[in-house]
Amino acid sequence: MRVAVVTGATRGIGRAVCDVLARDGFDVRGLDLAGSALQADVTDPASVANALAPLPRIDVLVNNAGVLIEGALATMPLADFDRQVAVNLRGPFVVTQAALPKIPSGGRILNLASELAYLGREGASAYAATKGAILSLTRSWARELAPDIVVNAVAPGPVNTPLLGIEAMTPEERAVEERNPLGRIGQPGEIAEVIAFLASERAGFITGQCFSADGGAAMH
Ligand SMILES: NC(=O)c1ccc[n+]([C@@H]2O[C@H](COP(=O)([O-])OP(=O)(O)OC[C@H]3O[C@@H](n4cnc5c(N)ncnc54)[C@H](O)[C@@H]3O)[C@@H](O)[C@H]2O)c1
Repeated sequence: MRVAVVTGATRGIGRAVCDVLARDGFDVRGLDLAGSALQADVTDPASVANALAPLPRIDVLVNNAGVLIEGALATMPLADFDRQVAVNLRGPFVVTQAALPKIPSGGRILNLASELAYLGREGASAYAATKGAILSLTRSWARELAPDIVVNAVAPGPVNTPLLGIEAMTPEERAVEERNPLGRIGQPGEIAEVIAFLASERAGFITGQCFSADGGAAMH
């Protein structure tokens, strides 16, 4: 059975990815800070190595764990900048470095970017920059690991997860999130299905790409 590792697996998009990959026949191992997944902090190489140690092979790696901390350029504490760089950029690097010896020829690496990598967002420049960096990592890894391993990314628009927190939004804030051609916020399963396609045999000739699933907000 093919093994899939998903970071940030206990809730939101990561949990949906685990469900869909299990449906598609993968032996799915989730990593997260806590909860029902294997315990691991993606920023900490020792903790990641410990979590991955029992796995003999990793056919699909999904770098999904991420944090969003909003803050204006003028006032954002640098600790908030550093935390987002640590989880959203260093995290995928640490996890992929640890997983690489276990990824066989034909393996897949999938990274979670964001529509904000393309669009930018006032009050979220640090987060958007980490997601722009994910596009760069994806392209560089796709070249470096070819032809054995393919590497792609998915750039979601707003998705109904705890990270987005629609329950706490004002109607005006929600309207901003719904401002895309399809006029709505996405569901975690709609992102997971794109990941499932990219993890499947059907996507073998695709590498270095980023697929937007954002209601048409960023067309490119
Ligand atoms: N929800 C959205 O609107 C949206 C939009 C675009 C991109 N994304 C991206 O999709 C991914 C998943 O987002 P989500 O909305 O499901 O988020 P979420 O906050 O609902 O879930 C993220 C998960 O990652 C885990 N996590 C955080 N830091 C970690 C660490 N250091 N080590 C291990 N696990 C850690 C959390 O515990 C949590 O279970 C993120 O990379 C996010 O940036 C989300």
